[in-house]
Amino acid sequence: MAKTKARPRAVHRCQACGHLEPKWLGRCPACQEWGSLVEELAAEPATRAAAVAISDGAAPTSIADVADIEAGDRLGTSLGEIDRVLGGGLVPGALALLGGEPGIGKSTLLVQALAGVARALPGRKVLYATGEESVAQTALRARRVGAAPANLILVAETDVDRVLAHARALAPAVLAVDSIQTVHTALLDSIPGSVAQVRECAGRLMQFAKTTATPTLLVGHVTKDGGLAGPKTLEHLVDVVLAFESDGSGVYRILRSHKNRFGSTQEIGVFEMRGSGLVEVLEPSAHLLAERPAGAPGSVVVASADGNRPLLVEIQALVAPPSAGIGRRTAAGVDGNRVALLLAVLAQRAGLDLLAQDVFVNVAGGVRLDEPAVDLGIACAIASSARGRAVDARTVLFGEVGLAGEIRAVPMGDARLAEAKKLGFARAIVPAQNLARLEPAARDGLELFGVDRLGAALGAL
Ligand code: TYD
Ligand code: MG
Repeated sequence: MAKTKARPRAVHRCQACGHLEPKWLGRCPACQEWGSLVEELAAEPATRAAAVAISDGAAPTSIADVADIEAGDRLGTSLGEIDRVLGGGLVPGALALLGGEPGIGKSTLLVQALAGVARALPGRKVLYATGEESVAQTALRARRVGAAPANLILVAETDVDRVLAHARALAPAVLAVDSIQTVHTALLDSIPGSVAQVRECAGRLMQFAKTTATPTLLVGHVTKDGGLAGPKTLEHLVDVVLAFESDGSGVYRILRSHKNRFGSTQEIGVFEMRGSGLVEVLEPSAHLLAERPAGAPGSVVVASADGNRPLLVEIQALVAPPSAGIGRRTAAGVDGNRVALLLAVLAQRAGLDLLAQDVFVNVAGGVRLDEPAVDLGIACAIASSARGRAVDARTVLFGEVGLAGEIRAVPMGDARLAEAKKLGFARAIVPAQNLARLEPAARDGLELFGVDRLGAALGAL
C-alpha cells in the first residue's frame, strides 16, 4: 500500500489575541472575544525548515544592484485603459485582485485582457481557471466578445491545489482565477469564500506567482458596502487592487486602482459595456459633449472631475413660467437641494429672483455630478436660460458657490483646464483663488477669467 503523506493539521487561531485551539469555539478562551476563531493550517516545523533552506532569490543585495522593473518586463493586455491603470502592463510575479459587484463585467474584462496577452504571445499559453462558470459558458462569452485565441486555456476547477498543478504543468504567461471566493483547499474544512479559505488560497496563489514570476489575476466579489468580500488581509497580501465599478450614470464602467505596488493609483480607465463586450472609451468628455446644441441659452460646459480624471460635461437648465401657483424645481444628475440653494443665492446675491418660476436642471449623458465644483456651472446655466442669452460655446467653467455669493476654489484646477484645452475650449471662468495658484503651463492657450463673486461670474459670461 502506498504511504500517504500526513495531512497538515488544521487549527483555529484567535484573530484578536493569536491564541490557538484545536477545535472551533464561538468564544476565545484566552481573550474572551466572540467569533474571533478562524481555521488555518498549522505550520509544520519540518516544512518550515525546508522552505527556509530552499528559498532562492532572497540573498541580501545592495540597493544599487537591484534592477528597476523595465517597461519591457511588463506584459501588455492590448487594452490600453487596463495597462495604464496597471502602470504599464502586468508585472512578472505580481498578484493582482480585480474587485467589483456581481454583473459589473469582471469576467468580461478578464477574458478580454487574457485574450490580449495570449494574442501578443502566440507561443505561450494563458490559463483561465473558472470556478464560477462552466468552460462552455466562459468560451461562449469569449467568442461573443472576440476574445478566444486558441492559446487561451480554460479549466473549470475550484480546488486551488489542482489549479496550481495545472499552472505548473502549463507554465502560462498569465494565470487568472475567477473568483477567489469560489476556490478552496481540501486541507481546510471551512467552506469556500470563508475567511480561512480565501486567505489560504490567496496565499498559495501568491507563492506560485512569486516563485514562478507568473503575473496572477484574482477576481474578487465585493460586499454591499463596497468592501472586498473575505478578509481585509487579502488587500494587504496582493500587489495590486483594482476596482471595476459603474460611474453612477450606468453609462460607463470605471477601472480604478486602490493599491498598486508598481504604479500610480491616480489613473482610471473608462469602458462602455456593449453587446460586443467592453469597449475602451478614450475621450469620455468628447462623447459627453458630442451632441451639444451650440448657441442655445441654458447650456454650459463644466470642468468636473470623476475621481482623479477631469470630465467635461454639459449642464442644461430651463427656466419656464410656473405651471402651478408656485415654482417647481426638477434636477437630474445633480442634487436637488443644491439647486434650491443656488436659486436662493442667485435671488439674494445676484439679483436674479426665480423663486416663482419653474426650474429644470439636467446633466447631459445621464452622468451624476456630486462635487461642489459644478455649482458655478449650475448657477450660470440657470441664469443663461432665465435671461435667454446663450453662453459662448467655447467657454468652460468650474467653481464652488458659497451662501454669501462668493466663488470658492476647488481641487485639480490645472487638470480641469488641461482637459478643456485638449477638447478645444478657448475660455475658462474659474475661481480667482484657483487662478492665483495655477502653474504657468496651465495658463497657456486659454483666456482665463478669475471670479470671486457670483455676480462677477454672470457678468463675465
Ligand atoms: P460579467 O462579465 O459576467 O460580470 P461579472 O463577472 O462581474 O459578474 O458581465 C455581466 C453583464 O454584462 C451581463 O449581465 C451581461 C453584460 N454583457 C454585455 O452587455 N455584453 C457582453 O458582451 C457581455 C459579455 C456581457
Ligand atoms: Mg463573473
